[in-house]
Amino acid sequence: MKVLASAKEAIENFSMPDKVGFGKVLLPIMATCEFKRGEWGELEIRPYAKLELDPTCKVLHYGQEIFEGMKAYNYKGNGPNLFRPLENFKRFNHSARRMAMPEVPNEIFVNAVNTITKMGENFIPKRSGESLYIRPFMIATENNLGIKPSEEFLFMVIASPVESYFSGGSYKVLIERQMVRACPGGMGTAKTGGNYAGALNSGVRTQKLGLHQSLWLSASDRKSIEELSGMNFFAVIDGEIHTPELTETILDGITRRSLIDIARSKGLKVIERKMSIDDLIEDIKSNKCTECFSCGTAAIITPICSLHEESGERYNVKEEFGPTTKMLRETLLGIQEQTVEDQFNWVVKL
Ligand code: COI
Repeated sequence: MKVLASAKEAIENFSMPDKVGFGKVLLPIMATCEFKRGEWGELEIRPYAKLELDPTCKVLHYGQEIFEGMKAYNYKGNGPNLFRPLENFKRFNHSARRMAMPEVPNEIFVNAVNTITKMGENFIPKRSGESLYIRPFMIATENNLGIKPSEEFLFMVIASPVESYFSGGSYKVLIERQMVRACPGGMGTAKTGGNYAGALNSGVRTQKLGLHQSLWLSASDRKSIEELSGMNFFAVIDGEIHTPELTETILDGITRRSLIDIARSKGLKVIERKMSIDDLIEDIKSNKCTECFSCGTAAIITPICSLHEESGERYNVKEEFGPTTKMLRETLLGIQEQTVEDQFNWVVKL
């Protein structure tokens, strides 16, 4: 690994605004590593800069791209620490295989993430809910319009000091009945840009309706709940926690898995099953379903206060930010911020 002197200088001269928002302020450094002729080159830490791409570059035409979202914490200066980084590494290479891209070696991924985090340590915001959002990604960089996998790639890591992804209370969610996010045999379990691009149309309609998020249903039956655009879904029904079982069309969320483990360790029953939207609506109407929430690296846990049809019909969830949602959010964030004992050994101190 090579750390350029100019990268050290860039981080020394960086000044961070007090209000950072989400993904708007970037550390002035980035990690890059090129894959060419079947081999990975040297990892470099360099000043953050624009990329120069040829207009025929394959990622621009065929979307051969993958990414991860992970966070480093430095709550009240007790870090820096990462949360389950190995899981992000494994999922990154799962996505790479699906998208016909080379796997990134563990050493390159870990060195890139750790070095960017350590160099940026003084710019990890220290208040609760804040963190350094780390974005590893890989793009196809071969230059020609042939529709076959690229033979050249660029792996990069950039990082952004962030507040919480969604600052305002709880989500109002549109039940997306027109479009689907993923289909069996598709790329729903890969974290690739196309899945997010395909969800944007729904996001625009959602916003026009004054709502915040879309809830995607299965392409096979148009009934089973899958996930939100970039987050997994949970509901508390009769005091038990329900979430859609993982299928080949749902992203295997690391926050999702962590919440299931936390809930079970507290003696709560967690049921992973096929969840019909019709049943959920009935359970909301009859107050059997008392809480709904979404979870993801960026969003942590965000409560869902209501589900909506495009026609205007709405179903209000009994509790806007209920006790189970609160307990799970506090425990997860507590582990991440090292104020709650990490009985699972999820936290990696740098
Ligand atoms: C994440 O939670 O890291 C995501 O990928 C969601 C979104 C910001 C794309």
